[in-house]
Amino acid sequence: MVLRQFQALDVYVTDTAYSLELCRDKLRCLQYLMRKNVPFPTTGSAYSRVGYDKIIKTVGGAPLIIKLNEGTEGIGVFLAEDEKAAKNFLQTFKQFDVRIMLQEFIKESSGRDIRAVVLGGKIIGSFERVSQDGDFRANVALGGLTKIIDLTDEEKSVILHATEAMKLNMAGVDLVRSKNGPLILEVNSAQDFAGSHLIEGLYNIDFASMLINFAIEGKKKFDKGEAVWLQNT
Ligand SMILES: Nc1ncnc2c1ncn2[C@@H]1O[C@H](COP(=O)(O)OP(=O)(O)O)[C@@H](O)[C@H]1O
Ligand SMILES: [Mg+2]
Repeated sequence: MVLRQFQALDVYVTDTAYSLELCRDKLRCLQYLMRKNVPFPTTGSAYSRVGYDKIIKTVGGAPLIIKLNEGTEGIGVFLAEDEKAAKNFLQTFKQFDVRIMLQEFIKESSGRDIRAVVLGGKIIGSFERVSQDGDFRANVALGGLTKIIDLTDEEKSVILHATEAMKLNMAGVDLVRSKNGPLILEVNSAQDFAGSHLIEGLYNIDFASMLINFAIEGKKKFDKGEAVWLQNT
């Protein structure tokens, strides 16, 4: 609401309210990635009981991942071990009117994923997160440990395409290494200073200052009427 108000007053913003809203909904985010041919695990959604069997089959059967469209920090991401469990999740969330999606479980990357931090079309850093307690989720909020990881050229390209698809200047992109190459899980917008301490600690950089300088430079360009990279409506 605050960002939209700034935009309505023609005040420069580093990322638009529109892009932030897109990222808040994981399914919507993936639909945007699809338009740009960014690879992600096979994902689907079913509105009612009639479609449950079909959607389970589409994502490759159980075990499969179920996600709340609007969860964060690993909360709302579940692993359904068999089809019966998957249907139980589907029916329960339907009853409470919670929107969810089904996703192919990338077994080979269970308990680990990669977070890449992007600013202004450049990858500032990337780290692997590894779960310490056997959880299939690698989130730091759930105890995942971090370690700097070097990205392949293919991974870098996929990450930058994903941020571009969301028209984001600042993003935290989550991906997994699957047997068929990198797959994007989600694009996180509005990385806060609290979250950026990870990248600061691992790379020994002052990321907060980088963000502030990026905003200052962006505003200068905006004031001069120059195109601001990835500025959306
Ligand atoms: N399709 C998947 N296959 C394997 N692991 C997954 C899959 N989707 C999510 N995960 C694991 O669960 C974690 C949380 O999922 P994610 O989509 O990033 O949501 P959140 O917003 O909660 O971080 C990921 O970091 C990853 O470790
Ligand atoms: Mg995540």
